[in-house]
Amino acid sequence: MNSRVILASLIAFQATSYCMEDKSDLTLEDFKPLFLREHITARVTGLGARISNDYVRHDRLTIVAIMKGAFPFAADLMRKIEKVPVVFEYIQTSSYGQNGTEPGKLTIVGLDKLNLEGQHVLLVDDIFDTGETISKVLAQIRAKKPASVRSAVLLLKNKPRSVKEVPEYVAFQIEDQFVIGNGLDYKEKFRELPDIWVKKD
Ligand code: IMP
Ligand code: MG
Repeated sequence: MNSRVILASLIAFQATSYCMEDKSDLTLEDFKPLFLREHITARVTGLGARISNDYVRHDRLTIVAIMKGAFPFAADLMRKIEKVPVVFEYIQTSSYGQNGTEPGKLTIVGLDKLNLEGQHVLLVDDIFDTGETISKVLAQIRAKKPASVRSAVLLLKNKPRSVKEVPEYVAFQIEDQFVIGNGLDYKEKFRELPDIWVKKD
């Protein structure tokens, strides 16, 4: 075999394994249930009541939800904050790269047009993983001179991280595993699942 033939077969082999990798994308079969709907509702109800009590003396609380992942959690949470009027705002970030399970470069959209000066702000996200997303968004929110700012997440992964500040409000702490459902996606799939599922080992 000459070198051109070897090169051609190498390229063909790479193309085949890339396609095979694409076809072997994760399906629901690769996950198992972690938290069921009733459990999530109970935790979010408790968290909402805590937040409600903490802000009861203020005239309003401005929620800034990070789309798309925080969408179901923020909707559930705001309906359990019953003692203080809520103003709902949202921004969009994306941090996960092409393969769906490894972080890529962070982009933040929609924050520049929010006026948060003098507001009590609660940043709401689906999950605190490396903490980079929340940390960077908090820094930008603080630059807008809010009266106060805290953060709330549905899930916090227990893992070592360089970011020191962790969210004040956490519904569940989990191991450092990949999860889907209730807003969390794998390549834009599974956000609609009412339960939270974890990837099998
Ligand atoms: P962080 O910046 O590393 O904290 O990651 C925050 C973002 O990454 C979250 O808002 C999610 O969109 C995404 N993410 C982190 N871990 C998971 C996971 O286990 N499943 C799905 N998305 C995740
Ligand atoms: Mg995501």
